[in-house]
Amino acid sequence: MDEKLKQIKQTLEKYGQEQLLDEYNRLTDVKQKQDFLDSILTIDFNQVNNLYEKSKEEPAFANSKIEPIDYVDKAKLSKEQYDELNEIGTKEIKEGKLAVVTMAGGQGTRLGHTGPKGTFDLGLDSHKSIFEILTDILIKAKNDYGVDIPWYIMTSEENNKQTEKFFSDNNYFGYPKQCITFFKQGKLPMISTDGKVLVDEHHKIKEAADGHGGVFSSMLKDGVVYDMKARGIEWIFIGGVDNVLVKPVDPILIGLSVKKKVEAAGKSIVKANPQEKVGVFCRKNGKPSVIEYSEITPEMAEEKDESGELKYGESHILCNLFSIKAIEKVSKMDLSYHTAFKKAKYIDKNGQLVNPEKPNAYKFEAFLFDAFESLDNIAILRVKREEEFAPVKNAEGVDSPETARKLYRDFHGER
Ligand code: UD1
Repeated sequence: MDEKLKQIKQTLEKYGQEQLLDEYNRLTDVKQKQDFLDSILTIDFNQVNNLYEKSKEEPAFANSKIEPIDYVDKAKLSKEQYDELNEIGTKEIKEGKLAVVTMAGGQGTRLGHTGPKGTFDLGLDSHKSIFEILTDILIKAKNDYGVDIPWYIMTSEENNKQTEKFFSDNNYFGYPKQCITFFKQGKLPMISTDGKVLVDEHHKIKEAADGHGGVFSSMLKDGVVYDMKARGIEWIFIGGVDNVLVKPVDPILIGLSVKKKVEAAGKSIVKANPQEKVGVFCRKNGKPSVIEYSEITPEMAEEKDESGELKYGESHILCNLFSIKAIEKVSKMDLSYHTAFKKAKYIDKNGQLVNPEKPNAYKFEAFLFDAFESLDNIAILRVKREEEFAPVKNAEGVDSPETARKLYRDFHGER
């Protein structure tokens, strides 16, 4: 037996993952066999075991002290306050200190779209894709502030090629090509309920994107942090790809961060109802944090304060700002992983493809907002839903192309 195979066999036995050898033995193509071994070598089995153990634990906040967090309501700023923040923020933008990161690692699966979510046609008369809509926003900012704002787009292994091709085929939608940088997020193996690494239908290790919390370490690894520093960037807006009313170039958010001397800031909107699928800002053991909708208890979600508003009602809309120092700090830290239970096709121990009807596998994702807890404080700016939040997530109903299209049309007056 060759040395590589021998070593891999020992590792798999040590970590109880010998089922991967069964798959190796079933493969007949020499190249496929070698690729399979090489992909096994990229797995950190110690991490896999730890993640599996963690999947049995309660959500991390169960034993934490959770409290509401202060926010500044943009609509309630006096004219003087508004003008002051606007002046500070505008100066930073005009001096070229802002960069924008769009997290576009996800596929449009929930939307029923095949391909990167940003390539989805929102259904406007112009048939603009989400990526084109986002580019328009940056082109407008370029004209308003007279600067080229560097734009970094995070893709995943799955959609990187397609995303880059889409931009190049469309001549970068008129944005300067040298201002757009693509970088890839990381991935992690998916495991079964008994802790085994799965093999996918293509006879490869079943892997999934490691969540947008991986954005920071990927930015460091792929040289994005270095590039930003070389360009003199001080502030980085990070947003998801799926909000067609996103306002990434916002002098008030930057002005507020400078004024409050904080390392990061987030935009919030009032939660529409206790069941809305959004995370909410809070303080966890005194530190700024977000409780995700999948982890909040129904009781907490319903709780009201003295004025009758939801106690945890400042919705996180994935529109956050970080200083370059904060990015440097968190990019070197390990964020914890959250566990999702998903349906995953896999090859079983007899070499048969299983297409489950119910969730059968764990997927691990780091969440960007967990980085807030390692910062002393963040500023929260409450903004208006109809001005800044039109998510495109589901094929129909809430947060669908239909609702986003309406919000977009109402705001822009564009058909
Ligand atoms: C997300 C937020 C939630 C927020 C809501 C607002 C998380 C975990 N939760 O929920 O707090 O209230 O948006 O719309 O994010 N992405 C990647 N790589 C990944 C995973 C996601 O780039 O590995 C990107 C997606 O392309 C998308 C964004 O992150 O742009 C949000 O991801 P999604 O999984 O759709 O989050 P939601 O469940 O909608």
